[in-house]
Parts: sequence; structure tokens; C-alpha cells
Amino acid sequence: MQVFLNGQFLNKEDAKVSVFDRGFLFGDGVYEVIPVYANKMFRFHEHIVRLENSLNAIHINNPYNQSEWQNICQDLIKVSQSGDNKALYIQVTRGVSERQHLYEDTMVPTVFVMCNKIYSRPFDEGVGAIIHEDIRWHRCDIKAITLLPNILLRQLAKDTGGAYEAILIRDNKVTEGAASNVFIVKGTSVYTPPKDGSILPGITRDLLVELLRDSGQLVYEEAISLEALKDADEVWLTGSTTGVAPVIQIDGISVGNGKPGGLWKSANNIFNAYIEKIKKITIRVIFVL
Ligand code: PDD
Repeated sequence: MQVFLNGQFLNKEDAKVSVFDRGFLFGDGVYEVIPVYANKMFRFHEHIVRLENSLNAIHINNPYNQSEWQNICQDLIKVSQSGDNKALYIQVTRGVSERQHLYEDTMVPTVFVMCNKIYSRPFDEGVGAIIHEDIRWHRCDIKAITLLPNILLRQLAKDTGGAYEAILIRDNKVTEGAASNVFIVKGTSVYTPPKDGSILPGITRDLLVELLRDSGQLVYEEAISLEALKDADEVWLTGSTTGVAPVIQIDGISVGNGKPGGLWKSANNIFNAYIEKIKKITIRVIFVL
């Protein structure tokens, strides 16, 4: 397996980072995960814009422009293992220095990119979730590599009867999952929390909102109370490696009738049809070339 590290494509065994890297010492960096379907990057522009926003927010200069990122990612896809569904992982840290909290503006960021197969389990049967207080910081719009709360929350979910996700609550309102965004259905309407500092502006979330609205579905970007979550007819999770997953149980209690709901089925069909369309466009482009 080849990875990209600081300007070089290397075998993963040869890719080495200093123990003084601030990513290692402080978790001082940001990341992106970009799905790759049929060797085509999915919503690449949106992911790179979000990376740029995360970098700006923590005062790291973006080391590459969009076309440079595109070339690096495409070269990695070419040398990565075959397989239909992959994901690119991009990580940029502030770089190497002595361990001190303060940093110099002149630091050279560490850039790491890899391309892996997605080993997501099939979610169509539905997944379980737990509810937990949102114990993260207040800038969840930044895709920071510092993921300790997210890891602990996901693990807690798994250790609580094999649940897939922890749905997080702050000030009695749903924020998001530990690694996904949350949607609920009440009656014929779909709701998802608004994009503020309390959630990651999910690329899958945004696409689903767009696709649903294009199909005539009412979608409200509004605060969702804990009570509304518990009372929802359907609950969905979205994410680059999750797709659109129906939640059928929360804290051991069935959501709706305990089966993936009707609106989820149509939303999932719309989402999958969009991915299939993107894959076909790729094939046509390769053919023309
Ligand atoms: N995480 N919220 C959080 C906290 C996330 O970590 C993620 C994705 C999402 C969904 O965002 P998107 O649709 O852009 O993937 C929401 C990635 C996949 C991860 O950490 O591996």
C-alpha cells in the first residue's frame, strides 16, 4: 500500500513522522474523509472547501491548492488496491516543534494522505443507537483530529448492546452522532439540526438535504429537542462511510415500528441512485478519453 507523506509517495512501511509532530503530541491538526466510488472522488470540491475552512479556523496555511490536492488524491487512487468503494483520508497537522503549547506561524505542516477500502457493514436492516450528553468542545464545525470524545462515545455505543452510534445531546437538543449527522422524520416532514458550531457540516447531510428538496420533500434545518428525537417516527444517520443509515432502536427502545421506515427507503433510494449516476458519468469520461 502506498501513502502520500510530505510531498512523496511511499510504501506505508517507509512513511515515518517525527514523535515531535504536534499531531502526535497535541492532536493539533485537521482531517478529511472523501468517499471514492468506482475510482471517482465523491463531492471532492465540497470536501476540499471544508478542509480549507478547518485549516483556516486553526490558523494553518493550506499547503496545496485545489488542483494540487486533486492530483495527489487521484495519484493515490490509481496506486491503491482495486475495489469499488474506497475512502481517501487526508490529515494536515501543524508540523514538528518542541513540545510547547505556543506555535510559530512559520511552521511547515505535515501532510498525510491514504486511500483505503471502506469496510462499512450493510446498514439496510437498521442500526441501534444510544443517547448521550455531548461531551465534546464547542467548535465541532472544525474537523479536528482530536477525536477522544468521539472514540469513547462510539465505543460506549458498541459496548451497550452492540449499538452503532451515540446520538449526542447538548442543552436538551440533538447535535449529531459521534461520527455522523442526524435526521428525524415526524409525519411527512424531515428535520436535521442547523449548521452551527455544534455540528460538523456533513457533506452527506448537505447532499441529502439537497436531493430530498429536489424531490419535493420538506426538509427543515431546525433544532431537534431530546423529546422530539424520542418521539420521532424515523431517525437516520448520514456520513461518508455510513451513507444514509436507518436507526431502528434508541437506548433499547424501538424507533417507530422498529423497522427501517418508508421515508428512509425513498431517501436511501434517491441517495443510491445519485451515487450510481456519478459512477456512470465516470465510465463515460474514461470511455471518451
Ligand atoms: N466522520 N459528524 C461527525 C462528528 C463526523 O465525524 C462525520 C464523519 C460526520 C459526517 O460527515 P460527512 O458526511 O462529511 O462524512 C458528521 C468521518 C467519516 C470520520 O471521522 O471517519
